[in-house]
Amino acid sequence: MAKPSFQCLGTSIDVPNVQTLAASIANPADVPPRYVRPEAKADPVVSDGDSELPVIDFSRLLHHRFSKEDSTTPRADWGFFQLINHGVPDQAMEKMKADIVEVFKLPLEEKKAFAQLPNSLEGYGQAFVVSDDQQLDWADMLYLVTRPLQSRNIDLWPAQPPTFRDSLSCYSMELKGVAGTLLEVMAKNLGVAPEEFSTIFQDQPQGVRINYYPPCPRADEVLGLSPHTDGSGLTLLLQVTDVEGLHIRKGGNWFPVKPLPGALIANIGDIIEILSNGVYKSIEHRAIINAKEERLSIATFHGISEDSVIGPLAEIVKGYKPKYVSMSYREFMKTYFSTKLEGRRLMESLKL
Ligand code: OGA
Ligand code: NI
Repeated sequence: MAKPSFQCLGTSIDVPNVQTLAASIANPADVPPRYVRPEAKADPVVSDGDSELPVIDFSRLLHHRFSKEDSTTPRADWGFFQLINHGVPDQAMEKMKADIVEVFKLPLEEKKAFAQLPNSLEGYGQAFVVSDDQQLDWADMLYLVTRPLQSRNIDLWPAQPPTFRDSLSCYSMELKGVAGTLLEVMAKNLGVAPEEFSTIFQDQPQGVRINYYPPCPRADEVLGLSPHTDGSGLTLLLQVTDVEGLHIRKGGNWFPVKPLPGALIANIGDIIEILSNGVYKSIEHRAIINAKEERLSIATFHGISEDSVIGPLAEIVKGYKPKYVSMSYREFMKTYFSTKLEGRRLMESLKL
């Protein structure tokens, strides 16, 4: 029996399989009302040249990590950035992408072998559905805990294609390295002592949320993933196909992300915003749907040690006032998974 992980504390109300639903839809009027959301097109989508995402060269960051100079990167306004030269072998990324595409091609009956079990969010299904009258996202997800190793529920890892489990293990290990370094650089920048650092990041939990967004004839009236912030420390997102769909909140607008070839999209999650007492920001984002093409993405969430307290770090707060409440990791995850995704609402509610 795998050690239960705090990363999937909670449940979600059962919802229809969207891939199957999408395949059965012939015209726009067939889209069930529960998926139609006027707010999907309420705020403008703006893609002007001056709001490009910062591009961070990981190989240069490694240099900073070992240098004594007090680097000014990573900057606190990063929030979201594209990570290039991250050192994850092309082959590890390509294999992961190819295998994921195959997983979602399996007939529904075969996918049920790794469906979410009652009282857990891990597996194939959906998350964040907390009431029967809530509007729904046009997507299915496969959530798997990948670290710590003893928390893996291998039974829920698809057995087809036969290389999937190896591909995910390998991808998980590569991303753990990248995330570990990024978090270390951020902690160093924040002035966190190395001893505290190793306690916080020990046994760094990691989970993957594989998103499957089917096409929809009413693409601009549905949402693939509701506006939210990630309940992670740091998220690394890999877009599996060329279809774009990630939007980042910029003031009252949405800014579409165009991933650079081979890049990982990185973003700060709620945990780092809280630990840093708001120095780093967990930025609101959402995923939209394409009218003709399916879209797949893999979000890899990196947390901090499950024994840690999620609260502003004393050495960052120093004489100032903490800006967020403190709670146990377990309590934080329970709160996160029992709340419907609603932009920055949860984060604002944790502010003092
Ligand atoms: C997520 C997420 C965006 C995307 O899984 O948390 O924000 O582009 N995904 O799929
Ligand atoms: Ni997200």
